[in-house]
Amino acid sequence: MALQLKTFENTDELYNFAAQFLQQKVKDGAKTFGLATGGTMQPLYQVLRQSDVDFSGCTSFNLDEYIGLPIEHPESYFTYMQKELFEHKPFSKSYLPNGLAEDIDAEVAHYNELLAQNPIDVQLLGVGENGHIGFNEPGTPFSEKVHAVTLTESTREANARFFNSIDEVPEKAITMGIANILEAKEILLIAVGEKKRAALESLVHGEVTVDSPITVLQQHGNVVVLTDLNISLA
Ligand code: GLP
Repeated sequence: MALQLKTFENTDELYNFAAQFLQQKVKDGAKTFGLATGGTMQPLYQVLRQSDVDFSGCTSFNLDEYIGLPIEHPESYFTYMQKELFEHKPFSKSYLPNGLAEDIDAEVAHYNELLAQNPIDVQLLGVGENGHIGFNEPGTPFSEKVHAVTLTESTREANARFFNSIDEVPEKAITMGIANILEAKEILLIAVGEKKRAALESLVHGEVTVDSPITVLQQHGNVVVLTDLNISLA
């Protein structure tokens, strides 16, 4: 399996490496980036904001977006991306699923079509504590493309830290499916902190199973994993 695991002593080094990795990809001609949100990506976007990276010739596609959260809500992924990255380092065009679309099925089809027309060169990925990637919760068939999902209670609880209470965390989202994620030419996955250990162990040592969606990455030919966790490859 073509999985490169890079372990860092501290997260500053990890995020500097990740930022340089992406900068190098731009220099090497990557045009289309898949982007992720969550706490894991904030320090990366901070390093990128302060760098001289130039994404103005590139296009971005985000993995997912909550359904029904007003766009101006600070935790909508649209606003997150504006604040964390796009206001500072704009892409020529940036797409996220529209979680406020009146017709969610049509929006799903539209996002799928956009992805089909714009193959992703480099996909940035975090991972949920239960092994979810994007918002592909355990049990999601690997063949799924963009779709609407009902979030698990554990994911809503994990994300409640960004909201005033769990009641404010949306129950649904639109996410790229695992089939879309696997189409990316290269994947850069970041897993930081003890809470991600079980998910990362399942990627490195587990069997490929829908019970831990991250394990599907074993079937991708070009995945780089950055972590501060000591996980032996043996
Ligand atoms: C969120 C996002 C994922 C993200 C994951 C981990 O719910 N949908 O794309 O990778 O959960 O989030 P965090 O980085 O905050 O731990």
